[in-house]
This record gives sequence, structure tokens and C-alpha cells, in this order.
Amino acid sequence: MKDICFIGLGYVGLPTAIIAADKGNFNITGVDTNKKIVDKTNKGQLHIEEPGMEEILQKVIKKGKFKASVKPVVCDAYIIAVPTPFKGKHLPDISYVESATRSVISFLKKGDLFIIESTSPVGTMDKMADIIFDERPELKENIFMAYCPERILPGNVIYELSHNDRTIGGINDASSDKAMEFYSAFVDGNLYKTNTHTAEMCKLVENSSRDVEIAFANELSMICDKAGINVYELIPLANKHPRVNILQPGCGVGGHCIAVDPYFITFAFPEESKMIATARKVNNYKASWCAEKIKNTILNFIIEHKKKPYVAMMGLSFKPDIDDLRESPAKYIVSNVIQEYNNEDLMIVEPNLKIHNIYKLTNYKEAWEKADIVVFLVAHKEFKTLAGKGNKIILDFCNINKI
Ligand SMILES: NC(=O)c1ccc[n+]([C@@H]2O[C@H](COP(=O)([O-])OP(=O)(O)OC[C@H]3O[C@@H](n4cnc5c(N)ncnc54)[C@H](O)[C@@H]3O)[C@@H](O)[C@H]2O)c1
Repeated sequence: MKDICFIGLGYVGLPTAIIAADKGNFNITGVDTNKKIVDKTNKGQLHIEEPGMEEILQKVIKKGKFKASVKPVVCDAYIIAVPTPFKGKHLPDISYVESATRSVISFLKKGDLFIIESTSPVGTMDKMADIIFDERPELKENIFMAYCPERILPGNVIYELSHNDRTIGGINDASSDKAMEFYSAFVDGNLYKTNTHTAEMCKLVENSSRDVEIAFANELSMICDKAGINVYELIPLANKHPRVNILQPGCGVGGHCIAVDPYFITFAFPEESKMIATARKVNNYKASWCAEKIKNTILNFIIEHKKKPYVAMMGLSFKPDIDDLRESPAKYIVSNVIQEYNNEDLMIVEPNLKIHNIYKLTNYKEAWEKADIVVFLVAHKEFKTLAGKGNKIILDFCNINKI
């Protein structure tokens, strides 16, 4: 395997393709249907925030190991890393995986490796195999196919891509071995062989487990609020128990993984997935609960001071120190509050974005100085430098000052 085609140059596909070109010494063609991404990438510019990655991109372009394109080319392996969102009533949408698969069918030849990295409902690889072999029956048992999910944490990708262990789920043993050969060229973590369905479920279960654990912390935060107990003091105390490890509550759960993947289980196993479904509801409810708290605080301020407060909404992204707003509870809370208080008095702050297509953004220091009510939604590092509370009202939904 020398020539590798990555389909989808987003948060997963682009860094993986760059590291495979650098560490694995493969010749990479990175394919994306978005021409702007392709053009920017070919100029050696990263279209996502990822510390240290742009330098490696420029290095592999210079060495002739990486180029981006809007169309696939003939290669030895094809790696699918396109989005798998949900649609309608939380039904998985695998149409991107399907069209990415269709885009490479005519290039496939005997001995090629076909990998799906996109988080996928159980059975997706079977569906893609049917699509491929319906069109190219001669490839049946003549190509290798494996589902190999990704576990990277945006912001720490250079380290995690190399060091994380990976699950490799081939459609047969030979496919798992071929995929192991590919990943071992640039992954130092352990590679664990399994079948396709187990690998697909493994990815969904990892994120569902996180969702359930966070839901417990979020539920606790709302209980404590009613009971007049500081949850941020309570949790470290409870965690002194040698076998207890409660996570930190936040303003909900966001991102393209934890807030989405559990639905891939609940849609397929509605009767059996009661706890997973409830965790989703609790985490979604926490964002609505925060929005209600903010609106009540504004209302009380108006009643008490006979004027509208300046309100700083601190953070839009789904977690600290990134620019990713997908499924962000902070973004949901801002949009909810703004429906009632849409005026100059509401300042929206997101230091990781220069502009936003809907909201006018305010500098974090300016918003802090001016605000009567400061709502911390995301624990960005910039916000931790803000000192002195004065007579501001603080709503801290992310333990910004780490008690
Ligand atoms: N972002 C993460 O941290 C993360 C972590 C683990 C797994 N995942 C999973 O990895 C997959 C990809 O996620 P992402 O965050 O990289 O998505 P993304 O939206 O950042 O990027 C996907 C890219 O694919 C492109 N694309 C869509 N259809 C295409 C096609 N037919 N051909 C070529 N390009 C196409 C889009 O233009 C986009 O640039 C998802 O299934 C996601 O759940 C994401």
C-alpha cells in the first residue's frame, strides 16, 4: 500500500491524512467535495483549529506526499471520513457515507483496502458492501473492507492520532489484517482486531457511556441547585470514595460525537436502550434549564433595578478552547435567550471565532467590563483570566473558577 485516498477532509479525515503522509510515508490524496477546503488545504492552510497541524501539512505538501482534490483518484486504499449526522427525529443519516462510497466504486481494483472511519450505525459496513458488490460483483472476496472508528480529541490530535489504541473490524480476518498493516504504519497505540459489527457498536458505546456519565453529573447539578448545595464542592467530596468518579456538570452536552452517537443506538434498539435515551434527554434538558435560569435572572434584575441589564454570554462552542459549534448547548442557550432579549444589551462572546454568520461577537474583556450579568457557558482559557467580580451577577455553568 503506497497510494491512499482519504474521502472527507474535516476534523477527522484531514489530520489523519496529514499524519499518514508524514509518519506513514504514504502518498495521500485528500478528497473533499467542498472546493474551498481543497484550495485552502493545497495552499498549506488548515481550515480547522488544530495546534501544530498546519506545519506538518506544509511539510508533507513540500515533500510531495500530500495533495487535496475534489475527486478521488486510483489508489491502493480508500478511507471514508465523512459526516454521519442525524436527521428528523434523531434518525442516523448515512447518506454522506453512501455517496462517498459510490464516489470510489469505479476506482476499486483487486487487492484494494476500503475503510470506513465515520461513526456509523451497526450494519453500515454491510450496506456499503452491498452497494459496492451490486455494482462490481467481480470485487466480492477480492477487496479488503474494515470499519475502524476514530477516537481523537480535537485540540490534541497530533498526540492522540499516534497514541490512541484503535479497534479494527474487518469483514473477515484478512481484511482486519490488511487494515492493521495500514494503521500500524502511523499508529503507535495498540490495534485490536474484531468483527465489523462489534467495531461499529464499540464506537457508539464509548460515546454513549460518556453521555450517561455526564447526564448523571448534570442531573446532580440541578438537584443541588434546588437543594441549595454547591455541586462543585459536592462532587470532589463524593469522589474521595475510592470507587466513585463523578464527572463535572456543564451546560449540556454537545459536539458531533457524544451528543449524536447515542441516537444511533436508541433508533435501532428503542426497547432496550432506556438509560441511553434518558441520558440524552437529561443532557438536552440541562441546556433548557440553563436558558430558563438566565431569563429569570434577567427578569429579576429588571424588577429590582428598573432597567435592562447588560448580559455577557461567554462562549458558543461545545467545549473549551475550540471553534467547533456543532450541537453546542451554549449555542442553543444563546439562541433561546436571544428570542426574548434580542437587543444590544446582550453581548455574545466566542474568543475562538473571528466572526459568526448570525451573531455579532463582542470581545471577552469588553463584555466582562460592561456586563451586569455574566453567564459562563464554556470554560475557555481567556475567561479564566478575568478577575474581580465587583457587583456583577455571575451565572457559572462550567465551574470557570474551579473551586
Ligand atoms: N470530530 C471529531 O472529533 C470526531 C471524532 C471521532 C469520530 N468522528 C466521526 O468522524 C466522521 C467525520 O467527522 P468530522 O468531524 O471529520 O466531520 P466534518 O464535517 O468536519 O468533515 C467532513 C468532511 O467531509 C466532506 N464530505 C462530505 N461528503 C463528502 C463526499 N461524498 N466526498 C468527499 N468529501 C465529503 C465535507 O465537505 C467535510 O469537509 C463523523 O462520522 C464523525 O462522527 C468525529
